[in-house]
Amino acid sequence: MTENADVPRHVTIIMDGNGRWARQKGGERLMGHRNGVTSVREACEFAVEKGLGYLSLYAFSEENWNRPKEEVEGLMALMVKSILEERETFRKNNIRFRVIGHRERLPEDLLAKISMAEEETAGNTGLTLIVMLSYSGKWDIVQAASRYAKAAVEAAARGEEIPALDESLFSSYLSTAGIPDPDLMIRTSGEQRISNYMLWQCAYTEFYFTDVLWPDFRKSDFAAALEAFSQRDRRYGKIK
Ligand code: FPP
Repeated sequence: MTENADVPRHVTIIMDGNGRWARQKGGERLMGHRNGVTSVREACEFAVEKGLGYLSLYAFSEENWNRPKEEVEGLMALMVKSILEERETFRKNNIRFRVIGHRERLPEDLLAKISMAEEETAGNTGLTLIVMLSYSGKWDIVQAASRYAKAAVEAAARGEEIPALDESLFSSYLSTAGIPDPDLMIRTSGEQRISNYMLWQCAYTEFYFTDVLWPDFRKSDFAAALEAFSQRDRRYGKIK
């Protein structure tokens, strides 16, 4: 893996603008999502070429369940198809595939494909590709707090105590436990907000916004984001 400090270890992307892209072409929203898969593939290839450790992609938020049934079902079917089609890419490129989010809400057939791909790639040591599915930052914080409280209550019932909460212990209850916080967050389509994404994890993340719509996002756009990142002066609240 590249040791260059200018190359981020973890890049996360809010893939936005599929619907607008489709509308501009006079097509259905799902056509935008389908074309977005090409951009997902390019982003993964680029991340492997650059030696990134982690690439996480915001594919479906907890709020996205409120979209029309047809779009939600189409997106879930697209995920199933993409996982099946990309298994060989994961194998060839030593990619570890993971899904993070509120799994209980995902359909059975998708869950089965996710488990299969996660198991198949568990031993891969190159890029870790994380698809954030049915994820939201507030959901993650609430589930972490609930699990800590449950562990405390269970320990008390045994006459024991669990360690007092600190930032590091709290992080270990988040769904992203063990994954370094993102160094760089890219959001496409000109929107400049975090939209309930990795709220805890993005405390010191550098943000990069581009007007490019996700289905048009190419390696050159990813390269421009990394170039901008390499110019940032990260101080983490300290003085240099
Ligand atoms: C945001 O655009 C995009 C999504 C909610 C879905 C992203 C999903 C994919 C690209 C599908 C494949 C993903 C994987 C990981 C295989 P939007 O619909 O909010 O666009 P709009 O803001 O223009 O309406």
